[in-house]
Amino acid sequence: MSLVTLRVNGTEHTVDVDPSTRLLYVLRNDLGLRGPRFGCGLGQCGACTVIIDGVATRSCTTLTSRVQGEITTLEGLSPDGDLDPVQLAWIEEQVPQCGFCQNGQIMTAKALLDRNPDPTDEEIRTGMQRALCRCMTYYRVQAAIKRAAATMRQGAPDAEETAR
Ligand code: FES
Ligand code: FES
Repeated sequence: MSLVTLRVNGTEHTVDVDPSTRLLYVLRNDLGLRGPRFGCGLGQCGACTVIIDGVATRSCTTLTSRVQGEITTLEGLSPDGDLDPVQLAWIEEQVPQCGFCQNGQIMTAKALLDRNPDPTDEEIRTGMQRALCRCMTYYRVQAAIKRAAATMRQGAPDAEETAR
């Protein structure tokens, strides 16, 4: 076991973990953050995605002891209870079905929009292709990303953008 200090959603936490412990388990079990989900545990589905220094990262395969930088989980998108434009767009478009993959969809979309505030349809498809959904919510995910992009660029939803 060894002490590791993580910065998560703006707060530092020091945890005593085995060096081989994956970040997902620390976030869920030690810090009580239920946003990131355990799906495959193999880095393939995206359900466990968090953002580390702006990069969508699979926490199920990330060694806690190797993490450097700011970790943002789903909870960190709305620290004061005010939902992020991506979360609002998800509600407006009624994206989730069973909901299990949606942490990964939202966190991947958030990282995508932060680096590209006006993505084309193709850029959205490419950026989201590793976030898997068994319920096939992909069309609604795409619509929500366009809606969120419009909101983030203009400060308000743009009907034309979301209908494109
Ligand atoms: S649970 Fe991490 S990628 Fe599937
Ligand atoms: S909403 Fe069910 S797996 Fe995506």
